[in-house]
Amino acid sequence: MDMMETCGTTVSDYKAWRGKKIAASDIGGASDPSFEMLPTSKRRRVSRKEILEKKKAIDAVIKAALAEKDPLSSLPAFCCYHHDVWRPNSMSHVCYDIQSVWRPNSFLDFSACLGSGHGDELSHSVKKYIQNLLKINMEGPYGSEWPVEEKIKRREMVAGEARYVFAYEAFNANACESSTTSEVERGFTNCPADRGPLVGFVHYRFVIEEELPVLYVYELQLESRVQGKGLGKFLMQLIELIAQKALIEQFHLLQNHMTAVLLTVQKANLGAINFYMSKMRYVVSTTSPSRVDSSNQKSYEILCKTFDREASAIFTDENVGSEFLNL
Ligand SMILES: CC(C)(COP(=O)(O)OP(=O)(O)OC[C@H]1O[C@@H](n2cnc3c(N)ncnc32)[C@H](O)[C@@H]1OP(=O)(O)O)[C@@H](O)C(=O)NCCC(=O)NCCS
Repeated sequence: MDMMETCGTTVSDYKAWRGKKIAASDIGGASDPSFEMLPTSKRRRVSRKEILEKKKAIDAVIKAALAEKDPLSSLPAFCCYHHDVWRPNSMSHVCYDIQSVWRPNSFLDFSACLGSGHGDELSHSVKKYIQNLLKINMEGPYGSEWPVEEKIKRREMVAGEARYVFAYEAFNANACESSTTSEVERGFTNCPADRGPLVGFVHYRFVIEEELPVLYVYELQLESRVQGKGLGKFLMQLIELIAQKALIEQFHLLQNHMTAVLLTVQKANLGAINFYMSKMRYVVSTTSPSRVDSSNQKSYEILCKTFDREASAIFTDENVGSEFLNL
């Protein structure tokens, strides 16, 4: 299976590269003297007050997202994951990923339960686990660049703004269900005590990109023994829910908080590109190096999935996505 060279260094590299591009191409922007010389019909003057208000609103969204201690507490249905092998006629083995649904003629071959964490609160053993898994999954793809990458990833791993979802193997499939009722009501979304070892994690952050609040996936790493069982897809679906904060009291939809999920993927990592683009329906962002400057030599693309019109207009080619038009 292809490995994806996410995301740590690539994210830093992207931000540095993007910063220079924006500075160099701020033609017509508020900081560009030529902006003032444009005829009024060619521009919409955005008042300083409007800019400040928007910035304040975005900062508040990021602050609120960061303040939430445990995003899983409002998503009890996502606290565990079951993968079963379905045997319609006991001859063929067709795999389906299911969530908390047991079907006749199937057997569970893997269950996981999830917990959340913050970069500055990781225990020594969890830090070691993350470092080891990154090394196992990423040393090969990074090759001679790995020693430098590893140092950067170690720093990013423990940053205060780093948010995590951890996946633990669940030996007792029923353990997860018990945690979604009384445990969750008491605010504990982590698996019960008999949970098994860690099998993977997502490292994500709430950041501002193109002046919009977005969720940026820094790492998605699973141990090889649990890959291909639907857990990666399940975790990305959870990440998208965390970004949107769509699940709330009695299923009434609150407003979106983050306007998009962004992530970085190596061009050479065709498996990960397939996973994200074909299976998870991500698209290459208009802010990706190849879209901003076709002659660029960057080895990665920025992929995105947007959740509102403004983000769609900025990060994708769609001005208005039909999904936002209630069609
Ligand atoms: C890439 C990764 C996160 C995918 O998670 P996963 O649990 O293995 O993938 P899933 O089982 O959820 O697969 C979902 C779909 O994507 C497809 N897919 C997943 N990985 C794929 C790959 N490398 N090549 C082709 N297709 C792939 C699956 O076939 C599946 O398709 P289906 O829904 O039609 O059956 C995981 O394999 C992994 O952690 N790899 C090592 C670390 C890494 O490379 N991380 C990069 C991601 S940031």
